[in-house]
Amino acid sequence: MNVLLLGSGGREHALAWKLAQSPGMGRFYALPGNPGIGDLAELVEGIPLSAHDTLVRWCKDNAIDLVVVGPEAPLVAGLVDRLAEAGIAAFGPDAAAARLEGSKLFTKELCRANGIPTAAFARFTKPEAAWAYVTTEGAPIVIKADGLMAGKGVVVAQTVEEAVAAIDQVFAGGGQEVLVEEFMEGEEASLFCLVDGETVVPFGSAQDHKRAFDGDLGPNTGGMGAYSPAPILTPELERQAIEEIVIPTAKAMVAAGTPYRGVLYAGLMLTSAGPKLVEYNCRFGDPECQVLMPRFKGNLLETLAAVAHGRLAEVSVSWSDEAAITVAYASRGYPGAHQTGSEIRGVEAAAALEGVLVFQAGTKKIGARLLSNGGRVLNVTAVGATLKEARDRAYAAAALIDWPDGFYRHDIGWRALG
Ligand code: AMP
Ligand code: GLY
Repeated sequence: MNVLLLGSGGREHALAWKLAQSPGMGRFYALPGNPGIGDLAELVEGIPLSAHDTLVRWCKDNAIDLVVVGPEAPLVAGLVDRLAEAGIAAFGPDAAAARLEGSKLFTKELCRANGIPTAAFARFTKPEAAWAYVTTEGAPIVIKADGLMAGKGVVVAQTVEEAVAAIDQVFAGGGQEVLVEEFMEGEEASLFCLVDGETVVPFGSAQDHKRAFDGDLGPNTGGMGAYSPAPILTPELERQAIEEIVIPTAKAMVAAGTPYRGVLYAGLMLTSAGPKLVEYNCRFGDPECQVLMPRFKGNLLETLAAVAHGRLAEVSVSWSDEAAITVAYASRGYPGAHQTGSEIRGVEAAAALEGVLVFQAGTKKIGARLLSNGGRVLNVTAVGATLKEARDRAYAAAALIDWPDGFYRHDIGWRALG
């Protein structure tokens, strides 16, 4: 099978690492990829992920059998629909199904219509009505903008004043409608499922750390680290979440004539009343994927192709009992302004440690030198018999990396490890 992997982050390096080991792989390409992915696949240059016509033509010219889409933007924009019209299989939902991530309002209405546990909500097209609602409901309360906001469309308001300001911000930013949600109390966990129509196969759990600094302080980031499995998501809670949230969603999408095919990433709040949906994503998490792939024991290519071809029910997946943890090594200043282009040394020495994998994200290579080229730069990942062993290995590896312009959190896994 000839494969094209789309994306350039640590998530895609982890997917590439597992795909490259899959029996049945023919020619393996990545676009745009990164230097880490370039050690495993042939990098394709010069085609933006938004250039769907050019991408489809390139896939035809290169006899691609399967396109694996890493990030959400091409999915929401309908790349998979375009590939399907051209007869090219893809792992990832079409645009209609990707609305589960692309539109929070779509997902909330789907939950309401199908009795899926999630925060109570109200939607407003006029700020005055939203102000009145939050004044009556009181704080804490959650204000959201619709659409793909790269994690920036959500404000957990601690006071009514903050809520009113957040509502104003949504409309000032060009939003037509604001979503106001009940504040859910609990611990968050991420559950991944492969979904092919009504077939749902659990695909691992994880917890991440969104804040930039130790102690969950500092600004929100794309993710400073993650571990898998999430011990708080017990087998019982996982079963409940699948039965009450994921399966009814899959069935509702089929009933609407827009079946979901791909990985469905459910952000869950584990409340005293059971798991509730915070949000869906229509792709693997980053950095969650970096801790799922080292624990997945099957043939990833065969599994993703089975989803793409509507044959998920025919494959079985198995997972290692080991735990995995990943620590993001980011550019100093991230998620704010930061420099790029500084040299990183010691990645090979770190990756040579037992159980350690270093996935690259924002890197570039000039000759033999590895340079930083983004905010999140490396994902120092380790597996171990226990989460503690995995953590100790990951931090031993991070300590071998010589990159004065980088920083990482020292407490990844604290919720699970104490
Ligand atoms: P989202 O982009 O919808 O995942 O929201 C980002 C973050 O905001 C989530 O990971 C939660 O930490 C928080 N959040 C979103 N909605 C709620 C809610 N209804 N109650 C409590 N926290 C929430
Ligand atoms: N780590 C969060 C995400 O991928 O959306």
